[in-house]
Amino acid sequence: MKHIDVKEIISSKEFIGQEITICGWVRTSRNSKSVAFVEVNDGTSLKNVQVVVEKGESDYKEPRVGMALKVTGTVVEGRNNTVEINAVPEGITVLGDAPTDYPLQKKGHTLEFLRTIPHLRGRTNTFNAVWRVRSVLAAAIHEYFQTHNYVYVNTPLITGSDCEGAGEMFQVTTIGYSNDYKNEEDYYTNDFFGRKAGLSVSGQLEGEMAATAMGKIYTFGPSFRAENSNTPKHLAEFWHVEPEVAFAELNDVIEIAEDMLKHVIRTLLDKCPDEVAFFDAHFEKGLRARLEELISHDFGRVTYTEAIELLKNSGENFVYPVEWGCDLQTEHERYLSEKVFKKAVFVTDYPKEIKSFYMKQNPDGKTVAAVDLLVPGVGEIIGGSEREADYDKLIAAMNERNMNLDLYSDYLDLRKFGTVPHGGFGLGFERLIMYTTGMANIRDVILFPRTVGSIR
Ligand code: 4AD
Repeated sequence: MKHIDVKEIISSKEFIGQEITICGWVRTSRNSKSVAFVEVNDGTSLKNVQVVVEKGESDYKEPRVGMALKVTGTVVEGRNNTVEINAVPEGITVLGDAPTDYPLQKKGHTLEFLRTIPHLRGRTNTFNAVWRVRSVLAAAIHEYFQTHNYVYVNTPLITGSDCEGAGEMFQVTTIGYSNDYKNEEDYYTNDFFGRKAGLSVSGQLEGEMAATAMGKIYTFGPSFRAENSNTPKHLAEFWHVEPEVAFAELNDVIEIAEDMLKHVIRTLLDKCPDEVAFFDAHFEKGLRARLEELISHDFGRVTYTEAIELLKNSGENFVYPVEWGCDLQTEHERYLSEKVFKKAVFVTDYPKEIKSFYMKQNPDGKTVAAVDLLVPGVGEIIGGSEREADYDKLIAAMNERNMNLDLYSDYLDLRKFGTVPHGGFGLGFERLIMYTTGMANIRDVILFPRTVGSIR
């Protein structure tokens, strides 16, 4: 269907005087005796284009909100330096009707309500802006790694080993459909072709194998977590960016994370000024200034042990008590980034008991070379580490956790054959979007959120 994007029409004067065709959905419609004013949006822009329909003597009925139209008319200069389209009724074709119970009427809707209609919410400015930012951030992440000589690899989603060892893996079962099945249980067999398998919680272990072949790699795909966390920042299926680098120590990992984040945020500010202004106006006052400030300074750094002291001396009444050895909860993470550092902060060197088996053990015997990046408003958005490269130490850490070494024989081979210092991190893509848009709930930054109780 030959037509021009609304974004193109409204962002230049070059079409003025020309007859053009646009398509889109009716956002609002007003009628007067001889003219109808119809605001049309085709999703390419946060701004609508106004179509002025000269009704003349005809019995033209104004279109309803939600209808899909094709409009052919002449572009003219509108009020306040805008452009609009003058059309006659014959220039308007209804592509798709929308009855009066179309859920997105002109009034503002709450995010909670919009969550109940995930298939339609993309037609609002809020979700249009979120999906566009998501797309630009994804492209910027690829751009960063591609221009820094990383190889993009795709790690398996069906896996036999739980990378994080936290028991948060969904199990893969076979579902068959046959008329022979009588009971619901008949639909399931408990295995993946006779073997136990699950959905990957992280591509890291396979990523390490690729990095110790190609030097620098990254993955960007879905990870799955069966944690029963019904919170504004947990999804059962989230998108995970995982770079892995050979010949790298913890400090290198931290530098890569900071440099990559600054690049993608700078790109967002350059490429999405309208979307950032929209979030600034509707969701977080001062968003643009905050992001600009963030990329113009070094991120904070603190060790876990220092962070525990800061929390203990804070005088705050935390719900979860703070002691050396405790896992940092969201309230602690937010206190550190919002009240103490007032910016993004890397926390390093966590107690080995609360971190995964693969992290490099520090000489103190108590901590590991781990890093989390905490940011105001969200908490943790990155988790990473230098990996344990020593075969014997790795085996010891796995034995301490009663892990089945047979499942990890390929992984252990990396420490047998030309082992090198290496490390990487995982960035929760949705948490990055929350942080860069000011959206407070992770359900509002992914098309169809999979969370506890939601599989729509
Ligand atoms: O800290 P995590 O569990 O680390 C790993 O998976 C490592 N294997 C990564 C690596 O070193 N390659 O997860 C990394 C990040 C978290 O910081 C968080 O941003 C995100 O993944 N994440 C989630 N995002 C949304 N919903 C969940 N349930 C998430 N769990 C982790």
